Amino acid sequence: MAKGRKNGLYSGISAELSALMRTGWEDTERHDLTLDEQAPYAAERRAALSARFPGERLVVPSGNLKVRSNDDTYPFRAYSGYVHMTGDQARDGALVLEPRMDGGHDAYCYQLPRDSRDNDEFWTGPHAELWMGRRRSLAESERVLGLACRDVRAAADDLAASAALASGTPTRIVRGIDPALEAAVTTDESRDAELEEVLSDLRAVKDDWEIGELRKAVDSTVRGFTDVVGELSKAIASSERWIEGTFFRRARLEGNAVGYGSICAAGEHATIMHWTDNDGPVRPGELLLLDAGVETHTLYTADVTRTLPISGTFTPLQRTVYDAVYEAQEAGMAAVKPGAAYRDFHEASQRHLATRLVEWGFIEGPAERAYELGLQRRFTMAGTGHMLGLDVHDCAQARNEEYVDAVLEPGMVLTVEPGLYFQPDDLTVPVEWRGIGVRIEDDLLVTSDGHENLSGGLPRSATDVEEWMARHAG
Ligand code: GLY
Ligand code: MN
Ligand code: MN
Repeated sequence: MAKGRKNGLYSGISAELSALMRTGWEDTERHDLTLDEQAPYAAERRAALSARFPGERLVVPSGNLKVRSNDDTYPFRAYSGYVHMTGDQARDGALVLEPRMDGGHDAYCYQLPRDSRDNDEFWTGPHAELWMGRRRSLAESERVLGLACRDVRAAADDLAASAALASGTPTRIVRGIDPALEAAVTTDESRDAELEEVLSDLRAVKDDWEIGELRKAVDSTVRGFTDVVGELSKAIASSERWIEGTFFRRARLEGNAVGYGSICAAGEHATIMHWTDNDGPVRPGELLLLDAGVETHTLYTADVTRTLPISGTFTPLQRTVYDAVYEAQEAGMAAVKPGAAYRDFHEASQRHLATRLVEWGFIEGPAERAYELGLQRRFTMAGTGHMLGLDVHDCAQARNEEYVDAVLEPGMVLTVEPGLYFQPDDLTVPVEWRGIGVRIEDDLLVTSDGHENLSGGLPRSATDVEEWMARHAG
């Protein structure tokens, strides 16, 4: 909760004002709400979680508002593990799985109920609906989520009571999400991390509903990239900020937000992996590396990169670098299929880039030796991809054996994003190569017989990029 201002202009509330505020309000309970289409999928996910922790009490908080300064907060974004298990995004909530004798669990979704109008909370309290917006009532949430919902303000007492009733029943909580709830439960902290790991593991294979959401995220992202090409002349006249704003408008119109800070990197900024200042010039003749993704209303995100010639046409050198990255991406994508090792796509891409770098004389060969020693990393910098879903770097707490050391399965969604980055101050490459950065990033769904490129609606080859830009240039 944000700390209030000490220098507000009103010093108190008269009894008459308090009485006036409590009266004259319509009953706005909604009786028209029905079960959300995600609810049956969330129930399946909870069943999978339940099966992993028989006899244990599990607490998965949604999180709280985070203070930006004083009483100003960042936009709320619920913890992905909570969203996955409930389909809900309410702040200050928690999913509690209470163990049953038969080894299963009963699920309760703790939420902040609506404010009563019988006291001043609804307009003076820390979560005042009159200021923050209407929340769902517990009854409404039960209908939407298909879950028994309870008042989160009673969560600590409920947890203490059920712990006393079933003493010896271990409790686990995901830490780092809701400090107050953490303080209210007694757990063996060393065992809590495993709950977070399993929640991450369980997100590796997406269900049909999630795949549908990822398609929406990618489709909006394709439209956002097209918007940017249509506004390149305005970006040239202003800065990278125009590009950021153009993509953000699409993200806010069609989804919740961007799934991560957009990287709108023109010229040598393209060599900075996490360039999000986006305040540089956009110059014809240079490249624009745009790495951006729309996050849907349900919080699934795309993660796509295209590297575009700002003038609409690659120079021969830009094309040489671009083609090497394109070929590396082709090699990586060919390795995305069920049964392949997760690492295969990364290794295929990196091997290709190592070969090119040896041919160009930038690292010492032979290529296989360079690859084994990782010499290409001076210019490729990052791993070639990652899981994608509710988080841009999805499943980030998963165990290695469930992720990087695992085998690809249908329903997994991952990025393939090789790149080459020649730093502006790198004396080991010719001066004309310095400041060139190229990445191509697509979002791939592993299917029963290979993969589907969800972001295939955007051009990838240099020629296709130029044609597409000519069609949409503005
Ligand atoms: N945009 C972050 C990434 O590509 O991983
Ligand atoms: Mn990525
Ligand atoms: Mn990216």
